[in-house]
Amino acid sequence: MKDSKKIFVLTGAGISAESGIPTFRGKDGLWKNYSATDLATPEAFNRNPELVWEWYRWRQDLITRAKPNPAHFALVELENLSESFLLLTQNVDNLHQCAGSKNVLELHGNIFRTRCLKCGSIDKIDNAVFKPLPHCPCGGLLRPDVVWFGEAIPYDVWTKALKFLNSADVAIICGTSGVVWPAAAIPEIAKNCGVKTIEINLELTPISPIVDISILGPAGKILPEIVKLLRH
Ligand code: APR
Repeated sequence: MKDSKKIFVLTGAGISAESGIPTFRGKDGLWKNYSATDLATPEAFNRNPELVWEWYRWRQDLITRAKPNPAHFALVELENLSESFLLLTQNVDNLHQCAGSKNVLELHGNIFRTRCLKCGSIDKIDNAVFKPLPHCPCGGLLRPDVVWFGEAIPYDVWTKALKFLNSADVAIICGTSGVVWPAAAIPEIAKNCGVKTIEINLELTPISPIVDISILGPAGKILPEIVKLLRH
């Protein structure tokens, strides 16, 4: 890390866990109590937009009350310390940007944005009027601007991330279960490009056998420790 000039970071729900935002998998994961096919697919939204919006409004409310934790702030410091830095996040919670990270790419969208199903325009959630469903001035139904299961990820985000990763010195993969594609392919892609890979997670994951180092522990403790060591 000390010799690294170009740092790539991939984050998942685990980095926001210490901010009080539930992860998707694992013991208290959202997908334990809720069905992804009822709530996070385009078919679910077509079938029952009220139910899907109700779930997203609940999560937005929870996330609005959450604050970035030491892991988010450590990544801001890491960005400031490095010559070149890119943070690719699967999270839709905006906490990296709230903490002050600048070069952030969102792979799965953002829960605080809406997208019109008719004209495709994107807007802030604050501008949406729920009575009970939000509509665009063009008359189209608004949906959360997130990527659901079965949907394509934003192509420009993915190509930008891979271009950066291709010539990075090190890739940190933090707080992701490594089971959702294409993000799950990042460690393998990094390896193939000769990039050193470091995983930070509470437990071993399917990507642990691929990465160079797995550091087991909470991101809010491990990341600040790494940054502290780099500063001295
Ligand atoms: N520090 C580090 N890792 C943690 C912490 C923590 N404090 N808390 C939990 N973790 C780890 C868990 O061990 C788990 O491996 O974070 C991971 C969270 O995994 P998921 O809930 O599957 O989250 P993620 O990998 O981001 O999911 C990918 O799945 O449903 C979709 O769209 C959703 O973006 C999400 C995608």
